[in-house]
Amino acid sequence: MGFYSERVLPRIVDLTCGRTDHDPIRRRVTAGLAGRVVEIGFGSGRNVPFYPARVKAVTAVEPADLGWRLASERVAQAPVPVQRAGLDGQSLPFEDDSFDTALSTWTMCTIPDAGIALAELRRVLIPGGTLHFVEHGLAPDAAVQHWQHRLDPVQSTLFGGCHLNRDIRGIIERAGFTISDIDVFYQAPGPKFLAALSLGVAVSP
Ligand SMILES: C[S@@+](CC[C@H](N)C(=O)[O-])C[C@H]1O[C@@H](n2cnc3c(N)ncnc32)[C@H](O)[C@@H]1O
Repeated sequence: MGFYSERVLPRIVDLTCGRTDHDPIRRRVTAGLAGRVVEIGFGSGRNVPFYPARVKAVTAVEPADLGWRLASERVAQAPVPVQRAGLDGQSLPFEDDSFDTALSTWTMCTIPDAGIALAELRRVLIPGGTLHFVEHGLAPDAAVQHWQHRLDPVQSTLFGGCHLNRDIRGIIERAGFTISDIDVFYQAPGPKFLAALSLGVAVSP
């Protein structure tokens, strides 16, 4: 990791992910979490205030040391233990069937191979365990998709490998999850190419 990705990008992530209009979305996506939770792409811990009471412990996976440091106050105030125990969603250092639920918010856009990360989540979730996700990705409209494909190289260069045009439903289903609930919508305000969200729950077999 270089200076930009280590020292600058985590602060940009903290600011952009701290938008207060994300709060209702975070409340929705975290609502069904319970038991032992693994959260990939933990960032600066913006989901911590929204963990519901049924959560018993959270294991964070986050490559950016600065992101984890920026999370320290939220982690300290969490009502449950939150520990960082992994650096890469594509290679989770956990036994099979270690977690009841998993969380990923605005992260599958950036993990180099999101399919591998999802396969890892399947492995570490108990059978029937659930992945709770909200991700930006490929829009439902062709006109927006056109701009997503055109702008993707710029976005990816400026924002640490973040892609605009990932087919969120497709990558989750191809990893073997069954989507039990999904809502695809544009978050307003914001440019549609960045704001096409998929929010839902996927069940591990
Ligand atoms: C846009 S941020 C979202 C942060 C947080 N989930 C939130 O909602 O505020 C994407 C996060 O994914 C992390 N990330 C990048 N590559 C990753 C990987 N291979 N495994 C796990 N997390 C990764 C980044 O460091 C960053 O914190």
